[in-house]
Amino acid sequence: MKDGKKKAYFITIEGPEGAGKSSCADILTRHLEARGYPVICTREPGGTPLAEKLREVVKSKPDQDEVIHPETELLLMEAARAQHVREKISPALDSGISVICDRFTDSTCAYQGGGRNMDMGTIEFLNDFATGGCVPDFTLLLDLPPETGFERVVRRRSADADNDRFEAEALDFHRKVRSAFLALAEKYPQRFRVIDASQTLDNVVEQVEKVANELIF
Ligand code: TMP
Repeated sequence: MKDGKKKAYFITIEGPEGAGKSSCADILTRHLEARGYPVICTREPGGTPLAEKLREVVKSKPDQDEVIHPETELLLMEAARAQHVREKISPALDSGISVICDRFTDSTCAYQGGGRNMDMGTIEFLNDFATGGCVPDFTLLLDLPPETGFERVVRRRSADADNDRFEAEALDFHRKVRSAFLALAEKYPQRFRVIDASQTLDNVVEQVEKVANELIF
């Protein structure tokens, strides 16, 4: 960098539950810190007190007979994102701090666009509105069949814990989410790196380290 300051990276991690996104975030954090980049990790929906409240609302099953409609769900995701970007992500990047974010705009394209069949043009417009044009430098997509992701989540979860609204969706929903993620990776090959997350954790770690070496100096 001209002023001697290192570039701040904005890296997002996408993929289903059980793919190993947290381990991937840990590896990227260590990689960046070892090279002298200050870094924060955050997540969506969430990342600020208000956005975490919206996360709670959108993930939990409503108490009474009320359903959360796809349009409501989409706007809650985007409201959380608008707050998160302005309150946390942009200020960090502007002050030279790299940001690793567990899920971002691609999750909206995959879940609300792919899973819920909502109009992709509307989602892209709302993503752009919510982020004010803040786009990740790189996106790591941890790809694995939904069946494998579910098995891992169930194995990890304590016996009394309930699944959330998204985990409770049928396998077909999660298959459509996966296809939408892979379509995004094909559409934006410069930004995306796809990791085969169906392998052992050691192997996934190795792949993430390879990608980090390639992208971050
Ligand atoms: P997770 O962070 O534990 O994976 O939970 C977040 C859930 O929210 C996950 O099922 C994916 C879903 N989601 C969307 O449907 N749209 C979005 O834009 C985001 C960020 C997440």
